[in-house]
Amino acid sequence: MIKEYIVSSTERHSIWELAKEIFTHTSDHSDKTIFSNSLIVEAQLELKIREELYRLSRTGEYDAIIFRQLVDNSLIDIETPNKVRIRRNIDYIFEIIPLLLMSATGFPIAYEVQHNGRIINDVLPVEEFKNIDNSTAGVAKRFNLHTEDAYHNFPPDFIGLFCIRNNEKAATLVSILSDNIFTDKDYSSLFEKLFINQANAGSAQNYNYEVKRAILFGQKSKPNIRLNTARLPQIDNKQISSLLSSFVDILNENSQRVVLQSGDMIIMNNLRCVHGRDAFETDFSVEKRWLLRVLSRRDIAECLVEPFNVNVLL
Ligand SMILES: [Fe+2]
Repeated sequence: MIKEYIVSSTERHSIWELAKEIFTHTSDHSDKTIFSNSLIVEAQLELKIREELYRLSRTGEYDAIIFRQLVDNSLIDIETPNKVRIRRNIDYIFEIIPLLLMSATGFPIAYEVQHNGRIINDVLPVEEFKNIDNSTAGVAKRFNLHTEDAYHNFPPDFIGLFCIRNNEKAATLVSILSDNIFTDKDYSSLFEKLFINQANAGSAQNYNYEVKRAILFGQKSKPNIRLNTARLPQIDNKQISSLLSSFVDILNENSQRVVLQSGDMIIMNNLRCVHGRDAFETDFSVEKRWLLRVLSRRDIAECLVEPFNVNVLL
């Protein structure tokens, strides 16, 4: 289920003060320094917010949570950049807020093959890429449902999207692996290691790791998922291939539209949800849609064998 949490004005104030303290008391603004500080003061986040993040990340009571009005949008007066930033610095106080919340779900991570390994990724439309499908820079076409970085050896456990602005009211699509998916058909083939997940065009071009994996894994009664429906794994067996497409149809039918507004944040369990985005229209101005994406993993020990691929701030 998706939990919706309306942040109170006291909580909003307290989170902002915490972020401001980290920002003003760090000598440099590299993501590494800011992260160390975030991890230490994350325990000072308001108790109710920490409780909700615990329910998301530890007990699994929620599959996703939306925090409404986490930040007073009058404090966000920065223009949307033309293109994604790749310098590994934290530029603004409000960027620390999604980092703080994600620190309560696990360790923030980034991929060296994306945005130069920057830990806070800009998600924004870019005019020259507007017709590219399944791209964060595209707008004219839908971004199909996927688990984040399904192709990667170490995909994130959680993905957070913090909305700086979304005047276009573009909808984020979220579909949860509900239990009733398994009532009408036998999906056991999807639990077999038969599938190769591909990265989307334009994303992670240098990462070419073709391991066959299962699409569904873990407990059969409440499985986890790893799948990119934008580039479905090719499978020769017609029966399994049609089973996969009927599974994707159900995910699409179950998907919910979430419109994030300035100051909102959604955090999804990347093992239980697939997400995407509707096509939308924008004028590509300095007021264009701008989200910040932060990823986290509960366990980073295994990422350290591939430090050249995963940016783990320690
Ligand atoms: Fe995504």
